Amino acid sequence: MSKDYLAEYDAAAEGDKYPLVQNWMKTEPLPFFKQLREQRSVLVTPECTLLALFVDIRDALQMPKIFTVDLYKPKMGVTDTSPGYLMAHDDDPLHYREKSIMQGMLNRDDIPRVRKIIKDAAQEILGKADGDIEIVNNYCRMVPAIMVQEYFGLDGINRKNLIRWSFWNQYNTFHNQPFNLNSKEKYDEIINEHAKASKELVDYIAVLMVRKLLTVKIKDRLFAMARKVINLVRIIFKKKPIEFKDDIVKRMLRSTFAEQVDFSLARIGTNAGGLLIGSVEPTSTAVAQVIQFFLERPELLAEAKAASAQEDTDKIDAMVWEALRYVPISPYMFRQLSQDYTIAKGTDRETTIPAGTNVLTLTQSAMFDPYCYQDPDEFKTDRNWYHNFNYGFASHDCLGKYVGMAMIPEMVRQVLLRTDIHATSAMDYKDGPFPGEYQLAWK
Ligand code: HEM
Repeated sequence: MSKDYLAEYDAAAEGDKYPLVQNWMKTEPLPFFKQLREQRSVLVTPECTLLALFVDIRDALQMPKIFTVDLYKPKMGVTDTSPGYLMAHDDDPLHYREKSIMQGMLNRDDIPRVRKIIKDAAQEILGKADGDIEIVNNYCRMVPAIMVQEYFGLDGINRKNLIRWSFWNQYNTFHNQPFNLNSKEKYDEIINEHAKASKELVDYIAVLMVRKLLTVKIKDRLFAMARKVINLVRIIFKKKPIEFKDDIVKRMLRSTFAEQVDFSLARIGTNAGGLLIGSVEPTSTAVAQVIQFFLERPELLAEAKAASAQEDTDKIDAMVWEALRYVPISPYMFRQLSQDYTIAKGTDRETTIPAGTNVLTLTQSAMFDPYCYQDPDEFKTDRNWYHNFNYGFASHDCLGKYVGMAMIPEMVRQVLLRTDIHATSAMDYKDGPFPGEYQLAWK
C-alpha cells in the first residue's frame, strides 16, 4: 500500500507540518504530489500554500500582478533608488521592455552556433579528462561558464569567479526564502556571500562595459574602412566576408536605442549580469541530475546512448526534456499574493488565499497531472512541449530557454557518448540545494 502522507501530515503537531512537506518534496516528490492532486490539491500549511493541479498552477502563473515575484525584490537589487533586475518586476513597463529587448538580443538564429560552442567545450574537457572526472565542477559548471564568456561576452575573467557569482545569487534568491527554513546562521552566511559576490560582479561588469565600449566605439570604427576594403577583395574571390567578433554584450553596445526606449548603459550592464546569473548554476543542476537519472536506469541509459550517437539530436533532446520532468531543477516556483485571491472557484477545492501568503506552485506535480500528459508516470519522448514547466511559464518564463534547450542536451549527450560511462561516487549536494560533486569514469 502506498504511503499516506496526508494522514501523517494531519496527525503532526502544527510546527512539524511544513518541515514534513519540505522533506517529502525533496525526497519523494512524485508519490506525495500524486496524493495531493487526488485528495488535497490546495494544501494550506502554516508556512505557505501549495498548489498541485496543472489548471490551478497555470491559472496562478498567468496573473503576475496577483501571484507576484515580490520575494525576488530584495535578492535582485530592487531598492528605493534602483529598479534592480527585470525578473523582480511583474508585468510593468520595465519588465515588458527589457525582456523583449533581451529576447531580441539572444537571437534564436544563433542557436546552432551556441550548440557548437557547447559541443567543442564539452569535447575538449572530456577529452583532456582521460577517463575520469569530477563532473559537477569541471564540466557541469564549466561548460556554461565557457558559453557565458564566448557567446554572452563576459570575458577577461577567471571562470571560477563567474561560477561562484552565479552560485550565490541562485542560492540566495531561490533557496534562502522563509519556506526554505534555513537556520539563522545559514541564512546570514548566504546573505553575506551573496552580497560579496554581487559587489564583485558589479565591479567586474563596470570594467567590462568600459572595455567593450572602447572596442565597439573606437576599434570597430578605426577598422571599419580597412574591413570594407578587405571584404571587397574577399567578395571578388568568392570568400565569406569577415565580420567583427560578436557577442551579446557587444551586440547590446553596438545597438542604438532612442532615448525614449530607456535602455541605458547601466541597464545594459544589469542585463549582462543577469545573463550570467541565470545560466551557470541552473544548467549545472539540470545536467548533473539528468546524467545521474540515466546512469541509474540501465534500460534508459542504453536508449539514451544510442540516441546520443545519432547525428540528428531530436531523440536525445526529447529524452533529456522528459528526464527533467522527473529531476527538475526545482519541484516548484514560488509567488507571493498581492491581494486575496480565490483559486478554483466553483469547484470543491475552491480556496481563498489571503494577501501576503507565499504560494508554491508545484510545477513538477503539474507535469505529472493526467490533465497535462497521458500516462504521466511513464517515460515517453513524444510529450507536448507546451505543458512543460522546466523553463517556467507565462510572463516570467525563462529568457535563456532556447539556449538552455540546446546546451543541456548537448552536454548530457557528450557525456553519454563515452564508452562504459559510469558513476564512481554518489551525487553529493554538500548540504546545499545544488549538486556539488559527482565522480564519473569511462574507458
Ligand atoms: C541559459 C541561460 C539562462 C539564462 C540567461 C536564463 C535567464 C532567465 C531569466 C532572465 C529569467 C526571468 C525571466 C522573467 O522574469 O521574465 C529566467 C526564468 C527562469 N529560468 Fe532561466 N535562464 C537560463 C537557463 C535556465 C535553465 C538551464 C533553467 C532550467 C532548466 C532555467 C529555468 C528557469 C525558470 C524555471 C524560470 C522561471 C522563474 C519564475 O517564473 O519565477 N533557466 N531565466
